[in-house]
Amino acid sequence: MTLPFDRQPSAQQTREKRVFNFSPGPAVLPLPVLEEIQRDLLALPGAGSSVLEISHRSPTFDAILAEAEVNLRELLAVPDDYRVLFLQGGASLQFSMIPINLLRSRDLPASYILTGSWGSKAAVEARREGEVHVAWDGKADNFVRVPDDEELDLPPASAYVHYTSNETIQGVQFRRPPAVGDAPLVCDVSSDFLSGPVDVREFGLLYACAQKNAGPSGVTVVVVSDQVLERCGDELHSMLSYRRHAEKGSRLNTPNVFGVYVFLLVTRWLRDEVGGLEAAAERAAAKSALIYDVLDQGGGEFFVAHAERECRSHMNVTFRLRRPELEEAFVAGAAERDLVSIKGHRSVGGFRISAYNAMPAEGVERLRDYMLEFRKAH
Ligand SMILES: Cc1ncc(COP(=O)(O)O)c(C=O)c1O
Repeated sequence: MTLPFDRQPSAQQTREKRVFNFSPGPAVLPLPVLEEIQRDLLALPGAGSSVLEISHRSPTFDAILAEAEVNLRELLAVPDDYRVLFLQGGASLQFSMIPINLLRSRDLPASYILTGSWGSKAAVEARREGEVHVAWDGKADNFVRVPDDEELDLPPASAYVHYTSNETIQGVQFRRPPAVGDAPLVCDVSSDFLSGPVDVREFGLLYACAQKNAGPSGVTVVVVSDQVLERCGDELHSMLSYRRHAEKGSRLNTPNVFGVYVFLLVTRWLRDEVGGLEAAAERAAAKSALIYDVLDQGGGEFFVAHAERECRSHMNVTFRLRRPELEEAFVAGAAERDLVSIKGHRSVGGFRISAYNAMPAEGVERLRDYMLEFRKAH
C-alpha cells in the first residue's frame, strides 16, 4: 500500500504544497515553528540527539520545560501563587480531574454554565463525582449565545463554577469571564488559549489542550492557584491528583517531551513574531471579522451565521448556507483553492472556519474572496 505521504519532495516543494488548513484541532501550526522542528529533528542544538530521543530527566528537557513555563508565565502574566502543569490525557481528562480533585466528598454542588458541546460533556463527567448544578444551559436555543451575568442561576455556594470560554463546535465565545461571586472559577480555555490576554487572577483553574493554539495534541496545560490546590482532595490516585503533579513539577511520570518542546517554540513565536497576546487578540478579531462581514452582508439571505453577534467566536466562525443543497459544491470549490477542513461539526452542520493564531490572514482573505465569488455565482 502506498501512503499518501510516501514520497520525498524537497523542503521547498513541501512548503508550496501547504494548503490553508482551517481544522478545529489538531490545527495549523506556525510555519517557522514547523521549520525549526524539521531543522532540529535529528539533533537538538547542544544535545546531539533528537528531541524524540532525550530523557525527560535530561538537562536538555529541564531547559525546555523551564522555558516553556517561563514563556507562558510571561505571556499570560501568571501570578507567582499559581502553578503551571503540563499534563496528558487531553482537555477531556480535565473534565474528570477537576471534579475528582474539587468535588468528590464535598457537600457543595459544582455549578456548570453550558454554552455548547464541550461544557456539556464536562458536566456529564462531574456528575460522577458529586452534585452538579446547571447555572445556565443554552441547549434549547441550539447554543447560539453565552448568558449575561444576570441570567446565571447560581446557588449560595459552589465547590467551583465551570464554563467554556470558547465553544469550538458552536463558535460562541465569552468576551469576559462571568461574574460568579466567591466560588473558584474554572475554565476550559482549550480553543481560545493564548489568543488574547486574560486576567489569571479571576480564575482558580484554567486548562487547555494544546492542539488548537499552542502545539500538538497530547499536552494539556493547567494553570491552577495555590489556593485551589490546597482544596484538592487527599488520597487520590497520583496521576489524577493536581497536587502530586505540582509537587513533581509535571514529571510525575514521563511527560510528552515533544509536545512540551513544540509548545515552547509556539510561545517563542507568539512573543517574538506576533508580539504578545494583545497583538494576537487584534489579529484574531480582524481575521474573523473578514468572514463575519460576508455573513452579515445580505442579511442572512445566502449565508446564515450560527452564533449571535455579541458572542461570535474569534477563533471558530460557524455558519451555514440558506440553500443546503449547495454545501457540497461550496466545499469542493474551496478545496480547489487550497482551503480545507471547513466543514462544520456533524452536530451543528454547515461550516466552521477555525482561524487560530497560526492561520495567516492571507488564508482567511482567500476564503472571504471565495465566499463572495460563490455567492455571486449562486
Ligand atoms: C473547548 C474544548 N474542550 C475540550 C476539548 C477536548 O479536547 P481533547 O480532545 O484534547 O480531550 C476540545 C477539543 O476539541 C475543545 O475544543
